[in-house]
Order: sequence, then structure tokens, then C-alpha cells
Amino acid sequence: MPIKYFFAEKKRKTMAKVFITQKIPNAAIEYLQSHGIDAIMRNEVFPLSKNDLKNNIKNADVVICLLTDIIDQEIIDFAVDNGVKGFCNYAVGYNNIDVNYAKKRNIWVTNTPGVLTKTTAEMAWALLFSAARRIVEAHKFILDGKFRGWEATLLLGYDVSGKTLGIIGAGRIGTAFALMSAGFEMNVLYVDENTNSILEEKLNAKKVDLDTLLKKSDFISLHTPLTPETKYLINKDKFNLMKPNAILINTSRGTVINEKDLAEALKSKKIAYAGLDVFENEPLIEKELLNLGNVVLAPHIASGTKETRDNMAIMAAKNAVDIIQTKKPQNNVY
Ligand code: GLV
Ligand code: GLV
Repeated sequence: MPIKYFFAEKKRKTMAKVFITQKIPNAAIEYLQSHGIDAIMRNEVFPLSKNDLKNNIKNADVVICLLTDIIDQEIIDFAVDNGVKGFCNYAVGYNNIDVNYAKKRNIWVTNTPGVLTKTTAEMAWALLFSAARRIVEAHKFILDGKFRGWEATLLLGYDVSGKTLGIIGAGRIGTAFALMSAGFEMNVLYVDENTNSILEEKLNAKKVDLDTLLKKSDFISLHTPLTPETKYLINKDKFNLMKPNAILINTSRGTVINEKDLAEALKSKKIAYAGLDVFENEPLIEKELLNLGNVVLAPHIASGTKETRDNMAIMAAKNAVDIIQTKKPQNNVY
């Protein structure tokens, strides 16, 4: 049966393929190629339509996808039917993927935890200080030619040291963010399902319920994943509980906050300020937020340092290699 043998041999020698849905650092391709894997990366920074996504993944063994790619039941079914073995998300959050369904269909889903923890926590602090000290307003003030010299009451902000810091979600990033507060000698409160002994021991942090945290905190930072339980966790009722000097920071997912309610709370000065890296309907932003002075906005760049984005690329690629080598990938999410 020489012909059959020929085909079998040819199939065996075909290189495994990874499709990368959008442009990520080349470190991913280099890692894959050094493992004898053929990597194809789209050179674009916007997601494919559903049909184009299907066309592109049908010959892949593994797909490296981004948080803007919607991996729903239809895509998962298509992937499984076409021999795709896993989706490796280039992000720590994976609310863009129907993980329960992927599990049911026996296809791996991985993320990039750990490598971006401190980078994201640092961005939350950058937003916190930008808000507390009104850095964006100050910058604009100078560019607008309004600086006439030192003034006693110019652009007054809020002290950070000694204040109460509320952490919602004390996982890896929430913990790193809280630990960075040590130099500011803050009173730390947190909300989490679990007791966080590191925070309790190192910062004397107290685990409280959400409403208590919202009532007592001067600074509130969100570090929870987006799940059905955390959707609109912060809404009109919750803004009503917060202090008028409260500053709200979000580097998690936009939909954890009801963005319309937030705009209203900022406009009516129910809370003082917000620092936001994430939005409900990215890249769209609630229009009202764009007209307010008391908000600092960033375009979802919390993990965006050169080092961390390279490390995320390598981590996603490693997970793809594990899957191709039929091992359980290190960062499987279920
Ligand atoms: C970015 O938002 C991430 O989840 O990594
Ligand atoms: C995500 O990395 C988290 O657990 O905070």
C-alpha cells in the first residue's frame, strides 16, 4: 500500500500550526518557531469577523487569541470540528471566551497570569495618583496657557497617605496593588471570597463586606474578574453608599461598573474622581464621561509595558506548545 504510506508519512511530517489572531510581540513567534511550530500572525490590531476567524483557524492546531476576540459556542464548535486543540488567550482575563462550553467540548483555554500582576497594579497606582493629584487637569491647564505663577488654592487634590484604601478582589493583582500601599501607611479594607492572610499579616488589612468597604474607603480599586456575579457590581445604589471624596479606580473590566451610573455619580459629585483603564463597550466610552473634568481615562493599557507584553507573548506561546505536545497546558483556566 505505497500510496497510503506516502500520505501517512506526509501528514506526520506536517508542522504543527498556531494562528495568532492579531499582532502581539514577535517573542511569541520566535518561541513557537524554536519549538518547530509554524506560527502565522495577523499583522492587524482589530478582531476578525466571525467568518474570517473561522476561515483562519480551520487549519490551526492551536489559536492564540486576544481579549477582543469573542470565542463563543459557535466558534468553539467550529474549532473542535476542525481539529483545533486550544485557545490561548493573550490576557489574564478570559471573559471573552465561553470557558464552560470549551470545557464541555474538551478544548483547552489558557491565560497569562502572574507575568502582568505588578505591571497592572502599578497602573492602578498611576491612575490613583493621577486622580488624587489631578495630573491630567494640571497638564491641560499648562497647555491651555493658564499658568500665571504659584497660587495657594490652585488645583487642590486629595492626600493619599493615611487614608482608607478599599480593594475589591484580593487575587494576585489586588494583593500586589494593596502591598504597594505600605509606604503610604493606609488603612486597608478588602472584599474577597477568601481570607487573604498576606494582606492581614503584612498590612493589618480587614476583610469586610462590599457595602462596608464602599462606605468607609477614600480610595476604591477594582481587581475582580468579570463574571455574571460581578457584572454591574458598582451601580447607582453603590455610588449612593460612597463618600463624596471617594476616588474609584478600575483596571479590571469595564462592565464591573455601570458606566452610565458612574458618569452620573461623577457629574453630580456623588463621588470625587475616577481613574479608568477599562470600559463597558471598548473602544466606545459613555459620552458623558468625556465631558467631565473629574476623570482620568486610559485606553486599556494596564499590562502595557514592553517587558510584560513580551512575557505575556512567551507565556501564551508556551501554553500553545504544551497543547501541541499533548500535555496539560500550565495555565489552563478550568
Ligand atoms: C487585560 O486586560 C488582561 O486581562 O490581561
Ligand atoms: C488576576 O491575575 C488576579 O487574580 O488578580
